[in-house]
Amino acid sequence: MDSYLDDPRVQEKLALLNNDVLETTLYLKKGESRQAQPVIIKGEHLFPLLESLASASGDEGGSAGGKVISLVNKTAGPFEGIAPTLLCEIRALRPGQEAQPHRHSMAVLQYVLQGSGKSWIDGREFDWERGDLIVYPAWCTHSFRNTGTEPAYFLSVMDAPLVAAMGQLKVLPPEESDRAREKRQGMPSARYRDFPRVREAIMKLENEQLGVFTYLDSVDPPTSIDPVIIRWKSVKPLLDALLEVPVQEDPRAGRVIGFYNKKLADVRGVTPGLMAGFQVVPPGRRGLPHRHSVTAIQYIIEGTGVSTIEGQRFEWETGDIVVTPGGCAHDLSNRSESHPAYILGITDLPLMRYMRLLTVEEL
Ligand SMILES: [Fe+2]
Ligand SMILES: [Fe+2]
Repeated sequence: MDSYLDDPRVQEKLALLNNDVLETTLYLKKGESRQAQPVIIKGEHLFPLLESLASASGDEGGSAGGKVISLVNKTAGPFEGIAPTLLCEIRALRPGQEAQPHRHSMAVLQYVLQGSGKSWIDGREFDWERGDLIVYPAWCTHSFRNTGTEPAYFLSVMDAPLVAAMGQLKVLPPEESDRAREKRQGMPSARYRDFPRVREAIMKLENEQLGVFTYLDSVDPPTSIDPVIIRWKSVKPLLDALLEVPVQEDPRAGRVIGFYNKKLADVRGVTPGLMAGFQVVPPGRRGLPHRHSVTAIQYIIEGTGVSTIEGQRFEWETGDIVVTPGGCAHDLSNRSESHPAYILGITDLPLMRYMRLLTVEEL
């Protein structure tokens, strides 16, 4: 059947708009059929690549620090992520090398694959070593340095594709003064309600569901999120303790712990867009198939197993990265009969929770 957009009377008016239009039903159909595909990045390819980057010549440019590349999933949409919401990058930093202080609109979870060093985040200093996860919230001024004797390698996950979709992807030099920080953290809010006539009019509009706020209330920045570090030497004993106690585990994923910033307790995020957690899968355990709206990037810290994602079989082992975009049916099993599998998981859960888009389905 012809589209109503082809009707000559509509055509004539459309020509005056001087703007592209699309039937909304077509737009929705296109969007619904968009499904990013799973990806596995094998550690046996990842680590030699990092080694070659560490010793490669060539301009490193900018304040990035070291050699850094993003792993792109071509099915993930226009913002060059490893999934529609998440960017995944690997970085090699030679001994003594550092990233100059800078800040950006993306939050970063930086996982230390190898090496040791220090990070400075909004004036705080953090020591890190292999297995640690460092949380850099959006807009924090940060720098880091490899203080060890071997190259440092990182796997970082950012909410960059989301931020890019909002048209807000920005990397800036550090804030030049305390005044700039004050400006970001507290703007005086208008108090229209101090005037009885205004208050009365507002009260007529407000009810249990609906509130009224002023422009200045809306641009007053929310509380900033603190940087944190999650140390592997403290996480591992917890995972091992969980393995031994007779707790009821998640039949889909084994024993899972997640971390959240206490300011974000309701959405379970270490930043508003990113969740970090670890799971331990007991030897021989087969997880139940399921599907959720949340995208997961898993780094295999130790172990061997297999995941079936959208019907594709992915065998994984220590050092591999497994990406399960939201909406993919998947399961996960530990192939070893004797060794547990330890896995780092980074997801976009908080934003999904906040937007009330979190769905989980048993299959
Ligand atoms: Fe950065
Ligand atoms: Fe899952």
